[in-house]
Amino acid sequence: MLELRLPTLSDEGTFREAVAEFKANDPNFTFAFEFDEKADFGIYLQRLQGWVEGKDLGDFVPNTFLVAVVRHKIVGRVSLRHELNDFLLRLGGHIGYGVVPSERRKGYATEMLRQSLVRLPPIFDHGSVNLR
Ligand SMILES: CC(C)(COP(=O)(O)OP(=O)(O)OC[C@H]1O[C@@H](n2cnc3c(N)ncnc32)[C@H](O)[C@@H]1OP(=O)(O)O)[C@@H](O)C(=O)NCCC(=O)NCCS
Repeated sequence: MLELRLPTLSDEGTFREAVAEFKANDPNFTFAFEFDEKADFGIYLQRLQGWVEGKDLGDFVPNTFLVAVVRHKIVGRVSLRHELNDFLLRLGGHIGYGVVPSERRKGYATEMLRQSLVRLPPIFDHGSVNLR
């Protein structure tokens, strides 16, 4: 069963493995935005929480970063954008998602999107979801 949820401190090992797998096999896709492998994982989680609340956004829009977990392993992630800027309106849409290369073609992206669509309405309420 796939669980889509906020990352926690206990995910650090599997999170780092997912980052490494993307880096090795699909380097064009950013699994974790502004993730510094050398930095403290707890601080990174605080950063993600800040983005939910609209803090320290830089060029980003407020967003919720969720990991997809199957049997304690992170198999993918989604970024739910609370609002869109011009770039996201053209390219990214409200939901950015990726599945780690070794876990593809198992239906995980489909399930991640299904759960994302359930979670999005409380995040924003302006009617339409934009997928690119
Ligand atoms: C695109 C991506 C999310 C698909 O993840 P996934 O878990 O393999 O997708 P699913 O198993 O749910 O597949 C759903 C359907 O998508 C299609 N699909 C998935 N990968 C495909 C591929 N490489 N070629 C053609 N169709 C593909 C198929 O129709 C598939 O159904 P099927 O397996 O019955 O044929 C994954 O390949 C990925 O992370 N790619 C890099 C990042 C990316 O492109 N993200 C999406 C836009 S932000």
